[in-house]
Amino acid sequence: MKPIIAPSVLASDFANLQSEVEMLNNSQADWLHIDIMDGRFVPNISFGFPVLQAIQRHAKKPLDVHLMIVEPELYIEQFRSAGADTISVHYEACNHLHRTIQQIKATGAKAGVALNPHTSVQLLDDIIADVDLVCLMSVNPGFGGQKFIENTYRKIEAMKDLIIARNSSALIEIDGGVNQQNAPLLLDKGADVLVAGSFVFTADDPIQTIANLKTVSV
Ligand code: DX5
Ligand code: ZN
Repeated sequence: MKPIIAPSVLASDFANLQSEVEMLNNSQADWLHIDIMDGRFVPNISFGFPVLQAIQRHAKKPLDVHLMIVEPELYIEQFRSAGADTISVHYEACNHLHRTIQQIKATGAKAGVALNPHTSVQLLDDIIADVDLVCLMSVNPGFGGQKFIENTYRKIEAMKDLIIARNSSALIEIDGGVNQQNAPLLLDKGADVLVAGSFVFTADDPIQTIANLKTVSV
């Protein structure tokens, strides 16, 4: 199975956002990964609705929106209206995760849950059947360009076991420090979606770099 490749727009040149999005349109990228940071859930601020809408105006591929914000339930409908196809909220940011997942689904978007590196996949036991995507953070969220955390491999295995045990159809997405070197083992362990930010956008040839990630198989 070929992976779903979701380049993270966070690492793109914001002063040339239209051409960056067009580059992704012309590449083998499957989704565009959009990182929303509020300066509270994570110690960084990225961008909000106007920028997401601007991306949507040019993007020809689904927008995979990763909310690194507190109280995400306050903004679900607005993110959907701004163009989100998948909305992922953090487990650590939701007091009522089941309700928030249903809220996302009610908008027609696909619902995802993201886990920080320290958060056990077992905590999803009672919600995994309801979610479309699990985003396993392989760095501490907040910044692009960080080093991949090796413990992610065993989290993927445990996540896969849980998905099968609960008869869930959730995809496993890996976010942070993904590159051509770790991609094969990530897929081997059971990853379905690879997010890649700096690896794609600092490359001399981003289109070829995306194509190379796409050809990784298990
Ligand atoms: C980190 C973000 C990631 C980030 C990935 O908080 O959620 O999506 O953009 O960037 P790289 O691939 O550079 O680690
Ligand atoms: Zn992300």
